[in-house]
Amino acid sequence: MADEKIRIMIVDDVVESQKNLARLLSFENDMEVIGFASTGAEALEEARKIQPHVILMDINMPDMDGIRATEIITKSIPCSVVMISVQSDRDYMRRAMQAGAVDFIAKPPSAEELYATVRNAYQRRPTFTKEIKEKKEERAVKVSGKILVVYSPQGGAGVTTVAVNMAAAMMSDYHRAILVDANLQFGDVVVHLDRPNERNLVDLAQAADILDNELIQQVVIQHDSGLNILAAPKRPEEAELVAPANLGKVVQALAEQYDYVVVDTSLHLDDITLNLFEIADVVMFVGLPMIPAAKNLRVVLDLLNQLGFDSSKSMFVINRVPTDKRSGALNPEDVGNLLKLQVAAAIPSVEKAMYDALNRGVPVIISTKSSPSKELRDLAQVVMERLNQGRIELDEDDFVQPEGDRQKGGRRGGLF
Ligand SMILES: Nc1ncnc2c1ncn2[C@@H]1O[C@H](COP(=O)(O)OP(=O)(O)OP(=O)(O)O)[C@@H](O)[C@H]1O
Ligand SMILES: [Mg+2]
Repeated sequence: MADEKIRIMIVDDVVESQKNLARLLSFENDMEVIGFASTGAEALEEARKIQPHVILMDINMPDMDGIRATEIITKSIPCSVVMISVQSDRDYMRRAMQAGAVDFIAKPPSAEELYATVRNAYQRRPTFTKEIKEKKEERAVKVSGKILVVYSPQGGAGVTTVAVNMAAAMMSDYHRAILVDANLQFGDVVVHLDRPNERNLVDLAQAADILDNELIQQVVIQHDSGLNILAAPKRPEEAELVAPANLGKVVQALAEQYDYVVVDTSLHLDDITLNLFEIADVVMFVGLPMIPAAKNLRVVLDLLNQLGFDSSKSMFVINRVPTDKRSGALNPEDVGNLLKLQVAAAIPSVEKAMYDALNRGVPVIISTKSSPSKELRDLAQVVMERLNQGRIELDEDDFVQPEGDRQKGGRRGGLF
């Protein structure tokens, strides 16, 4: 294509640097700057939209840095990334190349160096749409894990505690479990399990269309207990970087790699949560033995009913049930009757065990054998039986589905 212009995107958090590069490039007839981004995350989104031939990528940026963004972009978009940074030492260069950059130039580059590098990067850009397609097809034959979503409209009901312990109990030598922190603004799974969330949901949500196990494993955090964790975004404002549909795709991609995917949620009944309910195999509602919590749950269940939610996949547990009969708390059975829900488990309130577990950063079912671990383990057994009802071990070929069907929710589809 002799008269095709080289479509260039500039990524730099300093607007002045963006402008300087754009000005230099504007003097060349065979080049056009088609877009800008000032963070790694923005770069991913923008690159996907505008499909540049060449990306000039700064390294140090807020949120995701240029190297991480390059890693994801070069796996998903057929373009060349050129790193452009004030740090010109060898270590940075090596990391940039490992991330998939085709070249590295020091900042500020001379005009001649810039033009030559851009033309060279354009020539070397991959055309791997085919590879991406193959990857998707490969994914289509993976096995199907089960998705448990844990939710409560009541803050502090113990959703995170229950989710952490369900995932820990489901994991075994033969079964892989992952805990996803979808409490996007104030997720605290990493606090419960004492782990940093350097890499998190944002990284996978941004690459939702091309997820494979390699990418997933780069982001997933390994806990000493063997549990795998996909952490929530680091800061509340980063929640916006996770679109509901992309979160759904991430969870479904995880279900192709793990036997059990347990999802911790926030109390917001927003698109994020509703979408998770839709793709869940079981939704576990966590209640408290008190009237306000029961009332909130009633409101939620009514609303879900109106939305056509398939109530046959819901489960109900009551957490933080005082062991002292004279506490004044409602009797779990009464709460169940009030809500016309069968109570799958009443988990006692045992503060000391919970504080110990939190302080040690391990699930309570690991840190103690007695209550409430026993109840939580029993509950996990019940949930697994529910999840595995009708699970038939099929040959890999049986899981192949047309791409269109999978997009619509595929094998789980039509649950609302
Ligand atoms: N069965 C229990 N016995 C005693 N304490 C508990 C129990 N379950 C949870 N807790 C404690 O209650 C507090 C809130 O629990 P958790 O963070 O799991 O709730 P949550 O529903 O996820 O809250 P949020 O709305 O903030 O996400 C924590 O300090 C936890 O240790
Ligand atoms: Mg929580």
